[in-house]
Amino acid sequence: MGDPVVILGGGSFGAGELARLLTAHDGVAHPGLVSRSHGGSPVASVHPHLGAAYPDDRFVSRADWTAFRESRRIIVFSALRAGELAGRYRELEAEWAQAGIGDRVLLIDLSADFRLDEGEGFVYGLSEWMREPLAGATRIANPGCFATALALGLIPLARHLMPRDATAFALTGSTGAGVTPGPRTHHPLRAHNCVPYRPYEHRHRSEVDRLLELRARPLDWNFIPYAAPWVRGITLTIEARFDEAPDTDRLAETFRASYAGSPFVSWTDTPPELTSVVGGNRCLIGGICRGRRAAVFVVLDNLVKGMAGQAIQNLNLASGWPEDRGLGHWIGPYPV
Ligand SMILES: NC(=O)c1ccc[n+]([C@@H]2O[C@H](COP(=O)([O-])OP(=O)(O)OC[C@H]3O[C@@H](n4cnc5c(N)ncnc54)[C@H](OP(=O)(O)O)[C@@H]3O)[C@@H](O)[C@H]2O)c1
Repeated sequence: MGDPVVILGGGSFGAGELARLLTAHDGVAHPGLVSRSHGGSPVASVHPHLGAAYPDDRFVSRADWTAFRESRRIIVFSALRAGELAGRYRELEAEWAQAGIGDRVLLIDLSADFRLDEGEGFVYGLSEWMREPLAGATRIANPGCFATALALGLIPLARHLMPRDATAFALTGSTGAGVTPGPRTHHPLRAHNCVPYRPYEHRHRSEVDRLLELRARPLDWNFIPYAAPWVRGITLTIEARFDEAPDTDRLAETFRASYAGSPFVSWTDTPPELTSVVGGNRCLIGGICRGRRAAVFVVLDNLVKGMAGQAIQNLNLASGWPEDRGLGHWIGPYPV
C-alpha cells in the first residue's frame, strides 16, 4: 500500500489525467478525488476514461483529513483554477494541523498561484532544471504548460549558444483552457480556427524569464501563443538570431548534452511531431541552423508533460524515487 493521494479540483482535466497516470504508479494508493461541483457523483460520470480503473469511486465534496492520521505521508495535488488554492491555502494548512498531519503533507499545485511566490516556500517544478531543489520538497508549484515547452527549448540555447534574441510561436489545443467553455475556448468555436492570443503578454513569460536568470542568462525574447484546433498538445517553434552563425551539429550536441540524464526529454534529428508525445510525458526537441539563425522545435502534451505527468515526475523527485516511476511505460497511439 503506497502513500495516500488526494486530488483537489477533482472534476478538472488535470485530476482526470493525474488519476489516469497514477494507475501505473506503484508508490501511491488509489487517489481520492475531491470536487465541490461533483460531490457524491461517480468519478466515471465526469471522467469516463477512468470507469474501468475506478468503477465504484465517487467524488467527495470535502476531504476528511483525519483519515490520514496514521499515514507516513499524504500527497495532495491541487488542480483548482487559478487563484483558488491561494485563497484557501491558510485554511487548508489549519485543517491539516488540526487533523494532526500538518508536517506530513506533500502539496503539488498545478495552478499558477505559487509559481512566482517565494514567500510560501514553494519550489518551482520544472523537473529537468530543478532536480536539486525538488529533492525532499514538500511544497511544489508545477510550471505552466507553455512555460515548460519554452523553458526546455530556451534554457540550453541561452546557456550555451548565446543568441542575440529569440521569438517563439506556440500552438496549443483546447484542453489548455480547462473544462469550462468560454467564447474563445469552446471547442466548436476553435475546431476549424487558429487564433493568436495575448501576443507578447502571456503570463508564462515571467516564469520563463525567472528560469533563464536562474539556469542560463537573461535573454531578449518574445512569445506569441495560438489557440489551435486540436484537443491536446503544444507545438512550439523558437527562432533565435545570433551574431555568429551557429551550426546544426553544435545545436544538436548542445541539446543532447543538456538532456543526457533526462528520461523524458530527447533530441530528434527530424522535426518532432505532436502525435509522438500526445498522452505521455515525453518532450521531443529538434532543430536546424541556417545562416545566423536557428529554429528549435518543441512538442509536448499540455495535459501530461505540461501538467499532470510533470507533477508526478516532481512527486518522484521530491520522494527520492526514480524520476520515471509510474511514467516510463507509455507508448502512444498513432495516428491519434
Ligand atoms: N489545462 C492545461 O493544459 C493546464 C496546463 C498546466 C496547468 N494548468 C493549470 O492547472 C490547473 C488545473 O487545470 P485544468 O485545465 O485541469 O482545470 P479545469 O479543467 O479548468 O478545472 C479546474 C477546477 O476548478 C474548478 N472550476 C472549474 N470551473 C469552475 C467555475 N466556472 N467556477 C468555479 N470553479 C470552477 C473545478 O473544481 P471542482 O471539481 O472542485 O468543482 C474544476 O475541477 C489550473 O489552475 C490551470 O491553470 C492547466
